[in-house]
Amino acid sequence: ENNNPIPQPKTYGVLGNIPLIDKDSPTLSFCRLADEYGPLFRFEGFGRSVLIVSGPDLVAEVCDESRFDKAIGHLLKVRDFAGDGLFTSLTEEPNWKKAHQILMPSFSQQAMKGYHDRMVDIATQLVQKWERLNPDESIDVPDDMTRLTLDTIGLCGFNYRFNSYYRETPNPFIVSMVRSLDEAMHYNNRLPIQNKLMLKTKRQYESDIQSMFSLVDKIIAERKARGDQGETDLLARMLNTEDPETGERLDDENIRYQIITFLIAGHETTSGLLSFATYFLLKNPDVLKKAYEEVDRVLTGPVPTYEQVLQLTYVRMILNESLRLWPTAPQIGLFAKEDTVIGGKYPIQKGEGVSVLLPQLHRDKGAWGEDAEQFRPERFEDMSKIPSHAYKPFGNGQRACIGMQFALHEATLVLGMILQHFQLIDHMDYQLKVKQTLTLKPDGFKMRVQLREKKT
Ligand code: HEM
Repeated sequence: ENNNPIPQPKTYGVLGNIPLIDKDSPTLSFCRLADEYGPLFRFEGFGRSVLIVSGPDLVAEVCDESRFDKAIGHLLKVRDFAGDGLFTSLTEEPNWKKAHQILMPSFSQQAMKGYHDRMVDIATQLVQKWERLNPDESIDVPDDMTRLTLDTIGLCGFNYRFNSYYRETPNPFIVSMVRSLDEAMHYNNRLPIQNKLMLKTKRQYESDIQSMFSLVDKIIAERKARGDQGETDLLARMLNTEDPETGERLDDENIRYQIITFLIAGHETTSGLLSFATYFLLKNPDVLKKAYEEVDRVLTGPVPTYEQVLQLTYVRMILNESLRLWPTAPQIGLFAKEDTVIGGKYPIQKGEGVSVLLPQLHRDKGAWGEDAEQFRPERFEDMSKIPSHAYKPFGNGQRACIGMQFALHEATLVLGMILQHFQLIDHMDYQLKVKQTLTLKPDGFKMRVQLREKKT
């Protein structure tokens, strides 16, 4: 026994704490351990150790960017296909700052005006698909939301149509991406010897990465070949804009990594958000009623305008509250820049890893009150009352999500359009089961819809 006061669950020899984790949903396992061991505990596996933090005061400390910075140890396998793209690079890698500066303007609230019509284009495809269902046909909600978010980032980002609503099965790019992400997540929780022996998995992984690269390289090559036709999308910006600091542009390899990054980061998380929000609406009739009232008041034309989306404030609150209870990117990794102490008594060594456990933080009763487990969008009526450092669905500081406005504009628009057109029916009395890839999603969630009476 050492006298380090940081609690740690039971260990199992060389496996450390690994057997305590359900490998198909590590985050939920960490939440159960946090219920037992508190707002800070140590977790060890295969000689690596990470501190799992979920108390608001401790989170405030590890979110201090002068003492902690983003870690990528848990993302090393994702780098096999996302390289030094924005999400998987260290802050000190030259391409992080460069891409950050080049791309920031493309993600401002103002920039959303430029994407709005394309977002409407894809959302209309979802509405049309649902309109044409027979009454006894059910909708696989996460599947259709994933079609939507993939097609939206493809069209807004690169002027590429995945056309997912014209396919029965997921786009092959998605199949490769989901399988690679799944493998990247499982890899870290296996013994090195196990990983060596899994030859078939390894071959599949390598071929998935090659097919992702070839689709993306084709998109880049085609754009370069036909030249600039006045596009203002992310790809145009990456090809044509110089970093204001170094005067350099991004190279083709890095642009490939950024595109893969946007396709991953830009669609899994947003589709999970839309799925959870729909689930909460089905289970909370009072909230649903208020949402219909707002949508009927604001969305008066055939399709929402940019300004109308900004006026859907209650829908926005529903999304914020969904992200509180189910932050779809559920953990963020950090490391200590120097030896330090948190909470006044817990020593952390330079380089040591910390992981902020968002679902647990977001349900902290001290910060959110006794009804923390309840879905209540009204919490977000006054953003200034949101407890600081108890709500981080988009991460922290300079490494926070660059796509936040994009995700929220898209999700508000889509939820608004769904409510404008449909009555939602919980025909199977769906019981929530959360599934994890890199992100969280409601598993096996189906519903039915019925067209609403047309307003006069
Ligand atoms: C980073 C959440 C949508 C692109 C992050 C981080 C979180 C997050 C928590 C920080 C990760 C970390 O610290 O390791 C979400 C959620 C979304 C969403 C919950 C939807 C509801 C999007 C969209 C895009 C995007 C739509 C792009 C179109 C990125 C990128 C980063 C990032 C590039 C890395 C930023 C950097 O470190 O410079 N996101 N995200 N995300 N997100 Fe999102």
